[in-house]
Amino acid sequence: MTISGSDLSQAVDAASRPLELAVVLPTFNERKNVATMVERLEAALAGIAWEAVFVDDNSPDGTSDEVRRLSLSNPRVRCIQRIGRRGLSSAAIEGMCSTAAPVVAVMDADHQHDPALLPGMLRAVTQEGFDLAYASRFAEGASTEAWGRPDRVKASGLANKIANKVTGVELTDPMSGFFMLRAETLRGDAHRLSGVGFKILLDILATVDRPLKVKEFPLNFAARAEGESKLDQTVVFEFLVGLYDKWLGRFIPTRFALFGTVGALGVLVQVAALHAIKALLGHSLASTQLSGNEYFILANTLAAIVAMTFNFVLNNELTYSDKRLRGFGPLMKGWAQFALTCSLGLLTNVGSAAVLKSIGINEMIAVVGGIVLGSVWNFALSSKFVWGK
Ligand code: GDD
Ligand code: MN
Repeated sequence: MTISGSDLSQAVDAASRPLELAVVLPTFNERKNVATMVERLEAALAGIAWEAVFVDDNSPDGTSDEVRRLSLSNPRVRCIQRIGRRGLSSAAIEGMCSTAAPVVAVMDADHQHDPALLPGMLRAVTQEGFDLAYASRFAEGASTEAWGRPDRVKASGLANKIANKVTGVELTDPMSGFFMLRAETLRGDAHRLSGVGFKILLDILATVDRPLKVKEFPLNFAARAEGESKLDQTVVFEFLVGLYDKWLGRFIPTRFALFGTVGALGVLVQVAALHAIKALLGHSLASTQLSGNEYFILANTLAAIVAMTFNFVLNNELTYSDKRLRGFGPLMKGWAQFALTCSLGLLTNVGSAAVLKSIGINEMIAVVGGIVLGSVWNFALSSKFVWGK
């Protein structure tokens, strides 16, 4: 490798001048985008002492390796490789907390956000007295045509209205993933950010106690350069989860609420499965030696296994989407562990109901109490043992 004069002076410059700006770029499978992204940052931020912090969730396409490769020849580039975790918001928070720069920006790494806006945003928060600068896809002068996703444009419009109502903050694009603020604005409150989903800007606005002075920059939201969006399947779900988290998350933790909802759906699944099994197997079982009661126990056991499997799959996809088990082996092991936790949960459920009833508590209340205690136990055990790592 040869080191040119300009590379060298740049390196010396970056090392000797105090850092002014950190650009945090969460990545998942963006290997083909990062090198060109760094080039565009170099061009946009000439004359500013900046660093780029890529926060990669151990992407299978080797994004982290690619960032480290760039980092070897460019001291402005840093890589945080997170193992066993997923999530745009939490990646952004970790990136923002990992830098000593007095000002932090967050932006997408797929070229949908134009780095040319960064210097103007920097002036806004360092010289013009704004607390926060952000790029809006829906401000006057912005455009989303190149995005090529009219469905997402519509969905965003609706989500923005809801978000504005809920947070009381009037922005044209509270879901934007492209913003900048002084690190101190966030520092004291970072631990209160939820880190769930991808609505990090909304979360910051709702979390920081004082009203923030915001400057909006119209964004021409470009088409993604390489690869595909990761937010497509989960976009609505994560939005709702994010809202719940902000509203009620401190009373009933979001993960437990999800776990409970999945469990309640499981009850319906078991009832439906029992009906289906009876309808399907009724004939063939009628000709066996089984008594009516044995037959019921068999059918209901099958139905319970179906419901438990349903719960396992849904919890793996939704409740623990950030710790999702993948691949045949881990899934089988997880399923078996989940089956075990559920059996223990069932014992707690039935046992505590019996205790409650025996001390004279109304039967229905005892049953509900058993369900709640069983669920808490189930949740605690599966959080630790099934999705613990
Ligand atoms: N570390 C990490 N972990 N990064 C992620 C994850 C994750 O789980 N999911 C997505 N990213 C990264 C992507 O690699 C990309 O750099 C950026 O976050 C945005 O993800 P996309 O998958 O490209 O999202 P999008 O273009 O569909 O969504 C856009 O609109 C959202 C609101 O509607 C983005 O601008 C989002 O930032 C915005 O919130
Ligand atoms: Mn994108």
